[in-house]
Amino acid sequence: MNSLQQSIQGSRELLQDSQGRSFPYLRLSLTDLCNFSCNYCLPDGCGEHHHKSTLSLEEITRLVSAFAVLGVEKIRLTGGEPTLRSDFRDIVRVIKSVPGIRRVAMTTNGYKMDRRVESWLDAGVDNINVSVDSLDPRAFELITGHNRLQEILGGMDKAFAKGLPEIKVNAVLMRGVNDVQLQDYLDWIKHKPITMRFIELMQTGDNGAFFDKYHVPGQAIRDQLLERGWVRMTRMKDAGPAHEYCHPDYVGRIGLITPYSKDFCKDCNRLRVTSQGHLQLCLFADGGHDLRHLLQSDDQQEELIAEIQKVLRLKVDGHFLDQGYTGNTASLAQIGG
Ligand code: 5AD
Ligand code: SF4
Repeated sequence: MNSLQQSIQGSRELLQDSQGRSFPYLRLSLTDLCNFSCNYCLPDGCGEHHHKSTLSLEEITRLVSAFAVLGVEKIRLTGGEPTLRSDFRDIVRVIKSVPGIRRVAMTTNGYKMDRRVESWLDAGVDNINVSVDSLDPRAFELITGHNRLQEILGGMDKAFAKGLPEIKVNAVLMRGVNDVQLQDYLDWIKHKPITMRFIELMQTGDNGAFFDKYHVPGQAIRDQLLERGWVRMTRMKDAGPAHEYCHPDYVGRIGLITPYSKDFCKDCNRLRVTSQGHLQLCLFADGGHDLRHLLQSDDQQEELIAEIQKVLRLKVDGHFLDQGYTGNTASLAQIGG
């Protein structure tokens, strides 16, 4: 630990916003490119949306080192689709070697999972979240634009075989599409250590009409779970956004992520940095805070840390999603979900 790290950790001036919330982890988008065209996110593919100049390995190292000094222990790599970066495994290795970083997690659409998952784990990935919006191969293809459900499920089995203890799976809840498939999901997780998380569809700048047609509140799933004998689990202090449910006959669990519910933002400990180096305090905040100009050389580290602390004091609690306010977020592919 160098003297800067010592003095900051000594004063325990870790990342805290004005509400006293702390931020043990950072979500870092590696690219806003995506090869899927999920109908709720990028129905026409990512087309012109993506920015070309993503953070380099050096910039990422400086960024992560600064957050680590401030107490961040876990980095989640997101996109777009983070594995589209050819240096994905190098990024994992480098982040893993930053002092203070204990865990590297990733969120993927699973496209390359069957061929690559072992190499991701070898590089040091500790947790994987993968999207499976339907367990019906035809519906999966209609939603994502790709007929790859079997490969993704096979990739997950490879990860388990290699020793990954659990996987979180995300499905965006859509009326008449997967809210009616709960039993299929339950059968699937009966003997597998999977937390199956249903995420309420969020309205973004680009998906207004789709939202009106398909949004369904998480209570629809909750009621079905309770009827079938599932029990809500007590939340741990640093739990993520999901409310989890378990059942004695099932190895897997169910999670519900309900951004439209009251107080959802109160415990939010998410911090995001875009693939362009903008620190975003909320998915739905207007604009990010550019950090990239402070990632250009190692001597800027002190200034970078001070800037991050300053920005964090601005994190306000509460978004305005329920009023249809979407900030400047056209789709979640821009900044990672
Ligand atoms: N509403 C809810 N979830 C979304 N995701 C992407 N766009 C939306 C949206 N509009 C999800 C992805 C993935 C996670 C990172 O975010 O499906 O599971
Ligand atoms: Fe689908 Fe994620 Fe790609 Fe959006 S970024 S199109 S949700 S895989």
